[in-house]
Amino acid sequence: MSDEYQTSGEYLHLLSEPAWQALRTPVALALRDAASDATLLDVGAGTGLGTEVLAAAVPDGDVVAVEPSPALRAVLLSRLAARPDLRRRVTVVAGDALGVDLPARLGAVLAMNMIGHLDPDGRRAFLRRVAERLAPGAPLVLNLQPPTEPTPVPFSVFGTVPVGHHTYEGGGSAEPSGPDAVTWRMRYRVLDADGTALREDHADYRWHVIPADALLTELTEAGLTGEVGPLDVVRAVRRT
Ligand SMILES: C[S@@+](CC[C@H](N)C(=O)[O-])C[C@H]1O[C@@H](n2cnc3c(N)ncnc32)[C@H](O)[C@@H]1O
Repeated sequence: MSDEYQTSGEYLHLLSEPAWQALRTPVALALRDAASDATLLDVGAGTGLGTEVLAAAVPDGDVVAVEPSPALRAVLLSRLAARPDLRRRVTVVAGDALGVDLPARLGAVLAMNMIGHLDPDGRRAFLRRVAERLAPGAPLVLNLQPPTEPTPVPFSVFGTVPVGHHTYEGGGSAEPSGPDAVTWRMRYRVLDADGTALREDHADYRWHVIPADALLTELTEAGLTGEVGPLDVVRAVRRT
């Protein structure tokens, strides 16, 4: 299986941290009522920024972090290695949202910045898989990311992070690539102290877009009731 994140793996954690400083509180709030006696699942865990929030939702809870990219698993595992409290209870699984074996009962499911990787059939199948296993009252937490329609997004720099004498910069643009998808063209650069680009990398990936109301309808069809909260964090629980 090819690794879609092979190039961006070097940059992703560094450049995602600022966004997660803002996401942490809404995600933690959305994870309320996670069941302490069932597995806490992070799907598309990446480098573990959400996994940490999920683990904090249930102190001592059993966490499974599913991540298909070897490059991102390497970052995730090295971060867990530095956190003995988490290393003890986070199991990292090489798998994906549709193929991974899931425990029969889930205490919470997190799928942040991930849902657009699934095409519409895959997304609906994923929601059904999760809905069938969520404990009563336990949340599925995911998020919507712009654009929600297949429209062009002009290039912009998303963020810069200094490391030593260098600055890491991430940016991108998107073009429609189907009735419900865009293709993002990401650009990563390493700049020296006077702003000269020392290196430049590119990564393209397809992202399936969905407006909020359509996602809420799909959640309902899967047997869940969803709501959209701050920063487009979506929380859904099983309908009783
Ligand atoms: C933008 S990253 C987000 C990582 C992390 N959840 C975060 O918010 O920092 C998207 C993640 O989804 C993962 N991913 C891609 N396709 C997937 C699939 N079919 N099933 C599960 N995860 C997938 C990628 O490998 C990557 O880790």
